[in-house]
Amino acid sequence: MTDAERQAALDAIGVEVAACRRCRLHEGRTESVPGEGTAATEVVFVGEGPGFNEDRQGRPFVGQAGSLLDELLTSVGWSRGEVFITNVVKCRPPGNRDPEPDEIAACAPYLTRQLDALDPALVVTLGRFSMGRFSPGSRIGQVHGTFRAADAASGVPRALTFAMYHPAAALHQGSLKQTLFADMQGVPAALTEARALRTAAPERPAAAEAEAPASAPEVAAESDPTAQLGLF
Ligand code: URA
Ligand code: SF4
Repeated sequence: MTDAERQAALDAIGVEVAACRRCRLHEGRTESVPGEGTAATEVVFVGEGPGFNEDRQGRPFVGQAGSLLDELLTSVGWSRGEVFITNVVKCRPPGNRDPEPDEIAACAPYLTRQLDALDPALVVTLGRFSMGRFSPGSRIGQVHGTFRAADAASGVPRALTFAMYHPAAALHQGSLKQTLFADMQGVPAALTEARALRTAAPERPAAAEAEAPASAPEVAAESDPTAQLGLF
C-alpha cells in the first residue's frame, strides 16, 4: 500500500466513525474521535477512549493527558506528527467511565482496519484496556516499560507491543509520571527491535497476503527499513 492509499483508508474509517451507531456511546458524543497522525508511521499509540476535551474537538489526547503524551514524545525526540494516535473506543464514555466490554467489541473493527492500513512495526499501549487487546493476560504493573510480540488476534501479528501506563493515571497519582518518562525511554529501542524482526521475516502472513500480494513492489519497499519513515 502506498502512503496515499493508507491515508485514504484512514479517511474512510473516519467518515464511518463519525456516523457510527454500533454501540450506546454514540448517544452522548459531541464528536467521535477516530485518531490522527501520519499514515506513513511505523508506530501507533493506542489509548482508552476520548475524554471531555477530545469529545469537544474530535481529536485524540488534546486535554491534560494529551499534554503529558506530547511531553513523553518530546522526551525521546519524537512528535505527534511522526506517529499515529488513536483509542480503543472512538466515542467518549459518559463521565469518562471505563468502556464496557460490549462497547470495546463493537468498536474493535475500526481499530483493526486502522492497523491493517498502517501496518505498524510497534504498537504502544496506553493503559490496561489497550494492553488487553495487544497483550491479553498481561498485568500492567508487571509489564509496563517492556515489549513483546503482539497477540496474533490483535490485528498486527507482525508487530511488537510496548506497554505503558495511561498518561491520565499520572494526573491522579503523581509518582507514575516518573515511571511513564522512564518507560518511554525504552520505546525507540523497541522500535529498533521491531524493525529488525520485520527485516528478518518480511513476509506478511497468509491472510494479509490476499490483500497485498507478496510480489507487489511496494511490499518489498516496506521491508526495507531505509524506505520507512525515519524516526531517528
Ligand atoms: N485518554 C484517552 O485514553 N484517550 C484520549 O484520546 C484522551 C484521553
Ligand atoms: Fe461506533 Fe465505536 Fe462510537 Fe461505539 S464507540 S458508536 S462502536 S465509533
